[in-house]
Amino acid sequence: MNALIPVTKIELELTEACNLQCKFCYNSCEPTYCEKAYDIIDRLESDGVFELVLTGGEPSNHPNFFNILNYACKHIPRVMVQSNGVNFGTMENFERLISEPVACVNFSLHGPKSVHERLTQVSGSFDLTVQAIKWCIGAKIRVASNLVLTAWNSDRDNLEKLMSLHSELGMREMTVTRFIPCGCGQEALELKVSRLKFIEALDNLVNISKKTDVQFLLANAMPRCELEERHESLCNRCSFGVDKFYIDIKGNILTCGMSRIKLGNVFNGGLLSELALSEIRDSYLERNHIPLECRQCKYLDICGGGCRAVSVANCNKIDGYDSLEL
Ligand SMILES: C[S@@+](CC[C@H](N)C(=O)[O-])C[C@H]1O[C@@H](n2cnc3c(N)ncnc32)[C@H](O)[C@@H]1O
Repeated sequence: MNALIPVTKIELELTEACNLQCKFCYNSCEPTYCEKAYDIIDRLESDGVFELVLTGGEPSNHPNFFNILNYACKHIPRVMVQSNGVNFGTMENFERLISEPVACVNFSLHGPKSVHERLTQVSGSFDLTVQAIKWCIGAKIRVASNLVLTAWNSDRDNLEKLMSLHSELGMREMTVTRFIPCGCGQEALELKVSRLKFIEALDNLVNISKKTDVQFLLANAMPRCELEERHESLCNRCSFGVDKFYIDIKGNILTCGMSRIKLGNVFNGGLLSELALSEIRDSYLERNHIPLECRQCKYLDICGGGCRAVSVANCNKIDGYDSLEL
């Protein structure tokens, strides 16, 4: 049995349904909804969870989204919303959103209009997302964006247009996620980015960031050995499975939304006791999820062996090698 290590962050999936059809999406996009969100939040509160991200699918597509958001904000110190923003591009929904003390709204934005909508497969989605961002910034709500880097949006021109848009909107924070082929995105192999293109995109992001004053961070762990020395400061480790977890619509506790390895269910004994009983969590704490070839590497402390969801997508096991070519 592992020690009771505090949980710092939970991503809670309110629904798998979505109003967009992003080609890369890791989720199933099935119309399934979390029916016991209040119970889950109660359990997270009693287990001392500090940060909760409401996600999906599209979380605002849950029929009780605003009530759940209100409840979450009353019970968890820091609540964030991860959204495509489309539903908040209408005034009524936007006003309900900002009536809650949300710490940050993270909007998915994948390029200029034509590129964004090619990926989301819904025309008109870009304008609504941008409208929601403008209104949030006007209302002084902290906003950030997430770009999923794919073969369709990773060239310099698209990155330049996207970061300039951020700058014009006054949105200074951006995360960049590597496309991981899982869920609906499993079939979208044409979206994969080669290692060389990825490195080129990083160089472009760094240069454009300096010109536009938009800060970007890499959202997933990157294997340091696959990048160049100049990118070392961009590498980070992932602590999903250790102190951050994902909870799906049925209350299952998963390592993360993309790797989806089940550790327990909050309705059995609560989050912390389920984690304490989980052999997989033990294995994470003992660092057995780190690939063998990475354990002696001089870069281990920098990247922790990269992203485990890539390993699961590639070879269906948690401790496989993370390569940018996968
Ligand atoms: C699944 S979405 C759910 C929340 C909301 N619908 C949205 O678009 O932000 C969560 C985040 O994961 C990103 N994402 C989805 N599928 C991905 C994949 N296969 N690889 C990397 N990131 C992905 C999305 O773009 C989004 O920023």
